[in-house]
Amino acid sequence: AASLPESYTLRSLRKSDYARGFLDCLRVLTTVGDVTQEQWEERYDWMNTQGKGGYYLLVVDDGNRIVGTGALIVERKFIHNLGIVGHIEDIAVAKDQQGKKLGLKIIQALDFIAEKTGCYKSILDCSEANEGFYVKCGFKRAGLEMAHYY
Ligand code: ACO
Repeated sequence: AASLPESYTLRSLRKSDYARGFLDCLRVLTTVGDVTQEQWEERYDWMNTQGKGGYYLLVVDDGNRIVGTGALIVERKFIHNLGIVGHIEDIAVAKDQQGKKLGLKIIQALDFIAEKTGCYKSILDCSEANEGFYVKCGFKRAGLEMAHYY
């Protein structure tokens, strides 16, 4: 696999990434809202402490700001002999950085963590427009998403 562009790093999310534009990176995906630093820190701490974590948030840092991100949530089940399932969520690459394989690298890293933590599969929801991207990442269509909004 090709490496990241020079000066780019793929690493775990840090608390200090609030100031490196992490939330702005997510804005290419959906509404983020006005999240204060205090709120950010509270959520960050929750993800890293509750239920022994299970949240793996990765970022691509171009040396200046966060230009890509993705999350893996590791779910522990009773079925399938105490099976463990990975949920891939909130994949986003900054508009001006798309098409450089950053998204692919993020998915490959999340897949690696999923396998290492004992997941027997990883699943995600996406739009039809993104199906081709995930097929290139090795995923295949399975099931049907349903939602109940509150
Ligand atoms: N449809 C078909 N193929 C695609 C698409 C697409 N929408 N996007 C990328 N690809 C292909 C690329 O051409 C490339 O193919 P190649 O290996 O033949 O050259 C391969 O997939 C890898 O592409 P990357 O360069 O790694 O993709 P990128 O870094 O641009 O990231 C992403 C893709 C994450 C979808 C990005 O465009 C993005 O952030 N979009 C806006 C937010 C979004 O929709 N996120 C996904 C939501 S679903 C979820 O989070 C579970």
